[in-house]
Amino acid sequence: MNEAPKPKTLKPKTLRSTFGKNESRRTSKAQGGEQAFATPSSKALKAKESKITSSLQPSRTIGVTEGYMSGFGNSFETEALPGALPVGRNSPQRCRYGLYAEQLSGSPFTAPRAANERSWLYRIRPSVKHSGRFRKVDIGLWRTAPCHEQEMPIGQLRWGPQALPKKKLNFLEGMRTMTTAGDAGTLAGMGAHVYLATRSMQDEYFYNADGEMLIVPQQGRLRIFTEFGIIDIEPGEIAVIPRGVKLRVELTDGAARGYMCENYGGAFTLPERGPIGANCLANARDFLTPIAAFEDKEKPSKLYVKWGGQLFATELLHSPLDVVAWHGNYAPYKYDLRRFSPVGAISFDHPDPSIFSVLTAPSETPGTANVDFIIFPERWSVAENTFRPPWYHMNIMAEFMGLIYGVYDAKPQGFVPGGISLHNCMLPHGPDAEAFAHASETELKPVKLTNTLAFMFETRFPQRVTKYAAELDVLDADYAQCWQGLKKRFDPSKP
Ligand SMILES: [Fe+2]
Repeated sequence: MNEAPKPKTLKPKTLRSTFGKNESRRTSKAQGGEQAFATPSSKALKAKESKITSSLQPSRTIGVTEGYMSGFGNSFETEALPGALPVGRNSPQRCRYGLYAEQLSGSPFTAPRAANERSWLYRIRPSVKHSGRFRKVDIGLWRTAPCHEQEMPIGQLRWGPQALPKKKLNFLEGMRTMTTAGDAGTLAGMGAHVYLATRSMQDEYFYNADGEMLIVPQQGRLRIFTEFGIIDIEPGEIAVIPRGVKLRVELTDGAARGYMCENYGGAFTLPERGPIGANCLANARDFLTPIAAFEDKEKPSKLYVKWGGQLFATELLHSPLDVVAWHGNYAPYKYDLRRFSPVGAISFDHPDPSIFSVLTAPSETPGTANVDFIIFPERWSVAENTFRPPWYHMNIMAEFMGLIYGVYDAKPQGFVPGGISLHNCMLPHGPDAEAFAHASETELKPVKLTNTLAFMFETRFPQRVTKYAAELDVLDADYAQCWQGLKKRFDPSKP
């Protein structure tokens, strides 16, 4: 084992963001005890570096989130060592610091410019050195579409929160698939998972070749150390990890539970706003991509890869999180859902829930998403002469709902934080009897829906329940009973 010494003084990192809000020079912060930030050695390099950074001095730093660059889909640039990022070219004959240049392509080379995604990574070892003889290992309770292991009668389903296990499980070992949809092999569909993690990954790394991962913490904070830098998230925030990005997940404050959408299709992007215009919903500036950070760690390690619905492992003698600098638009990011600016009815009626779309992963059919990620955040309810909860509904799309905290207005009982409901393709759903009675009779004053954050993974594909989900003891067999209390109210003599 030969770990690089931690320097006494950390040099500032240089950040450049070429579109949107320009991030600038910030003081880097030690992020854990194992990554090393070396210092430049030559005077010439220092002189050049100061020249580079002098034009990047911030005019102000108000609102800057330390450790991140702001914007969605920007062409970002960031380096953890001064001058590590080549200027004006991607692949110089020799990279500084003895780094290797490597491209990570998230889209085909010839994808239209607006959909083209790639980043250039400058790393201690190329990824071929983070690969080796793979062996298939137990994937636990993680499943991938198509998965036909369970046949269930159709019906609306609901689960209570799953208890955190006593057994020590890391983020991968604690992944439990609830539903799968589409076919990962055709790059279409999604998996909906719950993670129950009770230990950090230690010298264990992972990347997912099957899909992009949208992580939604419900309990406990996560530190996601990715190749591109470090993302810290807590309940109320999300992180999106593009396909193929290596990472390690640490638990910041003990056991953690949350949801994960594995998107087999094209990457999540911001939905169109149409007549809403240029602002509101999820604003691009609130998405945060990490600045470069790396580990120069030589220690026996394991790299796990999910590929083709199977899990494989290979042994390494070093950390693969060794990217010293990178630039491009294919990178992980986080977003605080509490920054979502909801738009809704200010006179009457209830818009479609698409009004609450945070992200969408489009399919080749316009408006028909592979996955939509939708939230139901705190908001005012003001509509007059209106049944205010979500209306009764049947939908071609399949809706997987979770509750991060609080109470959901259509289901005041039974749908609790950490729980799940599943309303599949063309299966009816809507407010329960209690919610209907209340909403039909209550005085329609402006009401603030507070302390509530529910979300939905909505996909064009029917969602198949896994064997694990079907056999869970927290499956609510009586869920459909919540509508039994809805009485016949029709009276032809009383218009
Ligand atoms: Fe619905």
